[in-house]
Amino acid sequence: MTLAFGQQMLAIPGPSPAPERVLRAMHRGSPNIYDGELIDMVPGIAEDLKTVACTRHDVAMYIANGHGGWEAALTNVLSRGDHVLVLATGRFAQGWRGMAHRLGVTSDMIDFGTDVPIDPARVAEALRADNGRIKAVLCVQTDTATSIRNDIEALGAAIRQTGHDALFMVDCIASMGCEPFEMDNWNVDVAITGSQKGLMTPAGMAFVFFGPRAAQAWQSADCRTGYWDWSLRATPEVFYNRFCGTAPTHHLYGLREALTMLVHEEGVRAAWARHRVLARAVWAAGDKWAESGVVRPNVRDEANRAVSVTTFLMEGHDAAPLRDWCEKKAGVTLGIGLGLDMTQTRGAGMFRIGHMGHLNAHSLLGTLACIEAGMKALDIPHGDGITAALNVIAQAA
Ligand SMILES: Cc1ncc(COP(=O)(O)O)c(C=O)c1O
Repeated sequence: MTLAFGQQMLAIPGPSPAPERVLRAMHRGSPNIYDGELIDMVPGIAEDLKTVACTRHDVAMYIANGHGGWEAALTNVLSRGDHVLVLATGRFAQGWRGMAHRLGVTSDMIDFGTDVPIDPARVAEALRADNGRIKAVLCVQTDTATSIRNDIEALGAAIRQTGHDALFMVDCIASMGCEPFEMDNWNVDVAITGSQKGLMTPAGMAFVFFGPRAAQAWQSADCRTGYWDWSLRATPEVFYNRFCGTAPTHHLYGLREALTMLVHEEGVRAAWARHRVLARAVWAAGDKWAESGVVRPNVRDEANRAVSVTTFLMEGHDAAPLRDWCEKKAGVTLGIGLGLDMTQTRGAGMFRIGHMGHLNAHSLLGTLACIEAGMKALDIPHGDGITAALNVIAQAA
């Protein structure tokens, strides 16, 4: 039999569950795009996005996914033949690097592996040894494949201390709205995110935040193109230019509602705190499951774990039957393993739990309990994770 009938839970690391309120806000007829409510609404959306990123500088909005955000960020500050330094802790920085190469940008990569974060001291060393060739440093705050969290504050400080003038560019696609991020205080020049994870809005919009040093680099960037150019989008005289054409009308209504929930009702810092407690519940369960020697979180040290996604490795087991069991018998969809770096394709002995966005204690505990039930049903050895997770929630709330 199946016990999956009822509200399905999507526990993949993006897109995250869209709140009913967001979906309802999108359920309406098309608005006028030349005058009226939609146009009046968008400056407030830009302000709220900047509150989430902790920046007073600019934001450009795109009809795009995260890959579009990557390309937008690169093309606005780089020229063909420029060189960048890529800091990899999984496949996403490497994916971004691939896009840079296709634009004619060259790179060096420091690969920190798949279970520890970027070491700021090594980055500082590389910058000190550079003779002005490196135009930008690219990294990801939360790598969604490995679930490593990089310390962007420490990295920003280390880069600044070297006196090197490379731009600091950060992919916050899997972390913004979940993990603390303070663009201006942490010396970040360009930050990127998408609508579909911490921002709780269906996939289809990307946001690129840029500070004054990036705006300066834009002046000479020859990778700029008409569509991705951020200048008209960030400070348009004509609304039509903000999206280089027709606005993503319904996404904007959804995003407006999501930002009301995140910025004006819960508060960004409270959302960061909620994500941390829920993540600690996942880690507590995961560390207990690990006692059997089969299932364990990929990142061993809690300090280096992302608050929005956890990657689990299964020693000697294929994760597909467990994911299938959770979905078909219990109504919870878990994330597939992506492969930790670009040398691996979909990891067979891996699954991921997305714990980002519109998520509370009861939906997270339901997910964890169903995973544990699945392990019992499939005879996968595991420790008692649920009690540990309950304790985290009980103490925090
Ligand atoms: C950290 C990170 N960067 C980039 C991307 C790519 O985003 P998209 O799939 O929306 O193009 C993702 C998607 O999961 C991601 O998690």
